[in-house]
Amino acid sequence: MLALGIETSCDDSCVAVVDGEKKVLASVVSSQVDFHRQFGGVVPEVAARKHLEFLLPVLDKALCKARVDVRDIDLVAVTRGPGLLGSLLMGMCLAKVIAITCGKPLVGVNHLEGHLFAVLLDYPEVVPPFLCLLVSGGHTELVAVEDWGVYRLLGRTRDDAAGEAYDKVAKVLGLGYPGGVIIDRLSRKGDPARFFFRGGLEYEDTLDFSFSGLKTAVIRTFSGFSEKQREDPQVLADLVASFQESVVRILIKKTIRAMESTGYRQVVVGGGVAANSYLRQKMQEEAEKRGFRVYFPSLSFCTDNGAMIAVCGLYHFLCGQRDSLSIEPEPQLSL
Ligand code: KG4
Ligand code: ZN
Repeated sequence: MLALGIETSCDDSCVAVVDGEKKVLASVVSSQVDFHRQFGGVVPEVAARKHLEFLLPVLDKALCKARVDVRDIDLVAVTRGPGLLGSLLMGMCLAKVIAITCGKPLVGVNHLEGHLFAVLLDYPEVVPPFLCLLVSGGHTELVAVEDWGVYRLLGRTRDDAAGEAYDKVAKVLGLGYPGGVIIDRLSRKGDPARFFFRGGLEYEDTLDFSFSGLKTAVIRTFSGFSEKQREDPQVLADLVASFQESVVRILIKKTIRAMESTGYRQVVVGGGVAANSYLRQKMQEEAEKRGFRVYFPSLSFCTDNGAMIAVCGLYHFLCGQRDSLSIEPEPQLSL
């Protein structure tokens, strides 16, 4: 059994081939980051045009790497949403063309569910129930995974997603784009205790998140710096390390509260921010202290990729899902 996974919800053109044992035969990601850097963020029209340019070479590369012919594929899984409409359309067009010309079944996949399924690429043995912390550029959610396909939303961000806060802080501080990786790296040289930022809803009795006020507090602190402080790399490293400390502290605090309320003993973390080294380290320490198991996908499967879409599509295909060629992208799809 071979699944082709196509993911184009934002600015990465991704195609992967995954087999029935959840083994990744190829996962190719063509990043558009160099084109969007000059704008300090993703420009939707540019993203869609670049997908048009990149997708076929990425498909070729993935098939070549996996050593399979497109006719050997058993199903085509494609991200249906959430995401940018133009970007989603590009991936979906390619998936439909393959489905029509090669006579293959088409399976539309929820991008967020793909992030959740990504854990199976490294840990195929994981079985629900478990808690899932989904942290990406567009979402921050705590989900009770009662079974595959059976989800209960426990909490979500009321404003910015965690990754969005990273990106915005990095942009205002002039650190560049994309902000998550840059802040992660710079924070390693900084003192996370130098500044204290209280998180929104941190002490409230809710599993919802709020990162907008925290982001503003960091930006305001930076605005209050003298010229000399702004140019001091140590001050900047301390500032971003303190920001990161707050984000991670809040994510972990709410995760633990959700673990207590559900009684679950395992947590799966997914989405681009799951690649954060500080979150990985602190969550692991907390899990050891409290006796629960935490699973992080390997770094390349945290950020957007086609393999997570393939493995999720494979699951639904085996459950009987077959989509018609008239399915449309759903930019606002939720889990
Ligand atoms: O899942 P993803 O690739 O795309 C979305 O579905 O949004 O996540 C991208 C987000 C961006 O906001 C990016 O800055 C963040 O994940 N990110 C990180 C790290 N790597 C990516 N945030 C913190 N630390 C990282 N190492
Ligand atoms: Zn994503």
